[in-house]
Amino acid sequence: MNTWIMSVVLVLLFLLALTGLFFFMATRGALLVRGLVSGSHGEKAHVYPIYSNIRLIKLVDFQPIISAILLFQYDRLVSKIVSELMQSDLKNKKVLVTSCAFGNVIPLVVKTVVQAGAERVLIVDIINNQLVHAKSKLDHFSGKVDFIEENATAMKQRDGIVDANVMFFLLHELPHHLKGQALIEAGRMLKPGGKLFLAEFHRPDLWILRALSWTYFKVFEPLGLALWDTCDPLGCLENMGGWTCECTTYFFGNFQIIIATKQ
Ligand SMILES: C[S@@+](CC[C@H](N)C(=O)[O-])C[C@H]1O[C@@H](n2cnc3c(N)ncnc32)[C@H](O)[C@@H]1O
Repeated sequence: MNTWIMSVVLVLLFLLALTGLFFFMATRGALLVRGLVSGSHGEKAHVYPIYSNIRLIKLVDFQPIISAILLFQYDRLVSKIVSELMQSDLKNKKVLVTSCAFGNVIPLVVKTVVQAGAERVLIVDIINNQLVHAKSKLDHFSGKVDFIEENATAMKQRDGIVDANVMFFLLHELPHHLKGQALIEAGRMLKPGGKLFLAEFHRPDLWILRALSWTYFKVFEPLGLALWDTCDPLGCLENMGGWTCECTTYFFGNFQIIIATKQ
């Protein structure tokens, strides 16, 4: 019996280690290798293969995996954004989705804003494969959605072109000096009175969660840790001025949703 339990534990540990290794190689590990082999240049240099390689995108994009990565808070975070969008006046307005994301957030956001009467939805991402993948989830809305390959930190869209902008877990992916730039661009493209709906990581209140989260960021996504202090999006928006912000935290402070209205 003891040998049987030991074998199961060993197999589970092996599978866990294998999963960790896979995610490391599909995220930070690949960037380290890329940096050593060819240097890290270009505006896409920070994007992990898990977000740029179409096979990896398709392999990982399953709702249970994505929910688990966000500690099973994914539905709560998406529901908050969707319910806030439902309360916004979007009739004949344009909505921007700044960067694609895994799971059902994009279909749910698009469905909500189209039902609310939005005239057009612009989905932008720096990686074309992400746009192709997002398109495959949005068959029903093809006439209403534009898929645009653009850099969120240097957008070509005009000032004040949209009334709502959804930014779902983008900032923690960006190099630190570009995090604020993405927020400046988000503000520039919003009309006065328009809203930015931003979901991100946040510094957890519980020390145990903080320790686990810190380890996760150090190993897999080192650019995310600055959201806890120097690049805290609420602080950045308040320092920029011209915004009225509401922030709600989730799961012992591990996640946050900011609804920022442009004054
Ligand atoms: C938003 S995050 C997704 C994170 C989250 N773990 C999720 O639920 O999927 C990754 C996306 O941001 C995009 N991205 C990264 N840097 C970008 C940039 N500068 N401009 C636009 N999109 C960017 C990536 O291509 C990818 O589609």
